[in-house]
Amino acid sequence: MHKLRIIPKLVLIGAIASMTQVHAAGGGGPLEEADIDPGNIPSLQRGAANFMNYCAGCHSAQYVRYTTIGKHLGLSEEQLIDNLMFNANKTFETINTAMPPEDAERWFGSVPPDMSLIARAKGADYLYSFLKGYYVEPGSPTGVNNLYLPGTSMPHVLWELQGYQAANYSEHSENGIVTRQFEGFEPLTAGVLDAEAYDGFVRDTVNFLAYIAEPIRSDRRTVGVWVLIFLTIFLVLAYMLKKEIWKDVK
Ligand code: HEC
Repeated sequence: MHKLRIIPKLVLIGAIASMTQVHAAGGGGPLEEADIDPGNIPSLQRGAANFMNYCAGCHSAQYVRYTTIGKHLGLSEEQLIDNLMFNANKTFETINTAMPPEDAERWFGSVPPDMSLIARAKGADYLYSFLKGYYVEPGSPTGVNNLYLPGTSMPHVLWELQGYQAANYSEHSENGIVTRQFEGFEPLTAGVLDAEAYDGFVRDTVNFLAYIAEPIRSDRRTVGVWVLIFLTIFLVLAYMLKKEIWKDVK
């Protein structure tokens, strides 16, 4: 009986381990560092606008309320309504997508995942690399492929901003086995943004995704400080009490 109880735990550990493996293996190139700054409020505000303009048409963030974003990012109700709320009527609503899941399935072959926790699941560096990882591949249904999620059904939605790029590979042959190694991207057409501005756009967007994956992080830090102060005072009191109680016993 006792031994049996450990099995679900082992299964869980196995599942987590295999998830991390997929995560680490995901893709065909080295990850670029996102270098995001969760304390940079203007960056988070820009990222929120980017997300609502370029991602929320397909992706929801169903655990995130507009009111919470407004509170943390210092936006008034009018600013929220004017700049971010395209799919909602009330500020306490969560970020829903206008696209019905059945249509998404029909159009893309897979439902665009909810973005609430994606940064925790995949990591900021992955998201940053993924959004910079689209390259032209003429035979594919979307005309592009992604270095980090090969064969993805998500189109290159930021093509107007980034332009199109090609992926260069070198081929190595050893004992008759030919392997391809990714060497780098090469711009083909110019986008509205230059390379540096596009990096900034993606960084802000990923910063926002990292923030919504853990919106209470800022609150938690302040709570943590108070808990430590409380524990210190309590320790002193407990020590004094102990001395008082044991004083006569000795
Ligand atoms: C036209 C619809 C559409 C838009 C707009 C869109 N996506 Fe997607 N996205 C998808 C689909 C479909 C998938 C599922 C792809 C797959 O599984 O191959 C996806 C998957 C993803 C994933 C998961 C990748 C993974 O490794 O599993 C991330 C992250 C993502 N999108 C981020 C974004 C961001 C950020 C934006 C805005 C800049 C955006 N998407 C805009 C359709 C869209």
